[in-house]
Amino acid sequence: MIKVAVAGAAGRMGQTVCEAVTGAEDMELVGRADPLLGTTLADLLDNAATELAPDVVVDFTQPDTALANALQCVRAGVHVVIGTTGFDPAPLYEADAARAGSESRRANVLIAPNFAIGAVLMMRFAAEAARHMQKAEIIELHHDRKLDAPSGTAKRTAELMADASGGEPPPIHSVRLPGLVANQEVILGDLAQTLTIRHDTIGRESFMPGVLLAVRRVGSLEHSPTVGLESLLF
Ligand SMILES: NC(=O)c1ccc[n+]([C@@H]2O[C@H](COP(=O)([O-])OP(=O)(O)OC[C@H]3O[C@@H](n4cnc5c(N)ncnc54)[C@H](O)[C@@H]3O)[C@@H](O)[C@H]2O)c1
Repeated sequence: MIKVAVAGAAGRMGQTVCEAVTGAEDMELVGRADPLLGTTLADLLDNAATELAPDVVVDFTQPDTALANALQCVRAGVHVVIGTTGFDPAPLYEADAARAGSESRRANVLIAPNFAIGAVLMMRFAAEAARHMQKAEIIELHHDRKLDAPSGTAKRTAELMADASGGEPPPIHSVRLPGLVANQEVILGDLAQTLTIRHDTIGRESFMPGVLLAVRRVGSLEHSPTVGLESLLF
């Protein structure tokens, strides 16, 4: 059994992750951290050497807390799967380099801006299309309580398209409205034609198979941090 703790457990994503972990036969939910629940991540990591010690922490919190949470997990030797978007992961690379050759237990980090398989495919197809068409723009649409703009998925898509085409990253337009969950459209234009690649998330369950896959695989990553669910899928 993989022992899993969730940071941001009272949030929209965190609650859905807790349900998914509870429903997975090979996982046990050993802790929920969230200021709204009165439990900190440090409280959960203090359970080391007890039966509540997590093997993996899943973080769906806020851009201003995800990095500190991840560093805390790595220092405690606990693997971490990060779904939170809108933060700079650079210090996680430095932490990994600093730890190379040290005695401390190796803890891996997986960061995925989008855990939905359809979104991962959208990014892959957009990168392929960017190699063949002149120009592109990205429109991302999310619920109006999302804290970061542009979305982590849009920034990652733009990065992958720029890498594939050898050109500039395409411009990104952000829409924030009630009623939306998470949607993205990549429009590519060329001589007398356009191509639109669109992904729509209707419910947060869409992210759960990806999150559970990441929990199962984070302990055996070759590189840490690893960015993108695609590294586990393709
Ligand atoms: N990677 C993906 O596939 C994916 C999908 C959807 C959302 N997201 C991202 O996940 C994040 C969470 O989204 P949400 O809609 O659930 O937000 P939310 O505001 O509903 O939940 C965030 C929760 O984190 C808690 N929190 C804040 N600081 C904390 C800390 N230090 N320790 C523990 N908990 C803390 C808050 O109290 C809140 O309950 C956002 O960054 C969002 O962009 C990622």
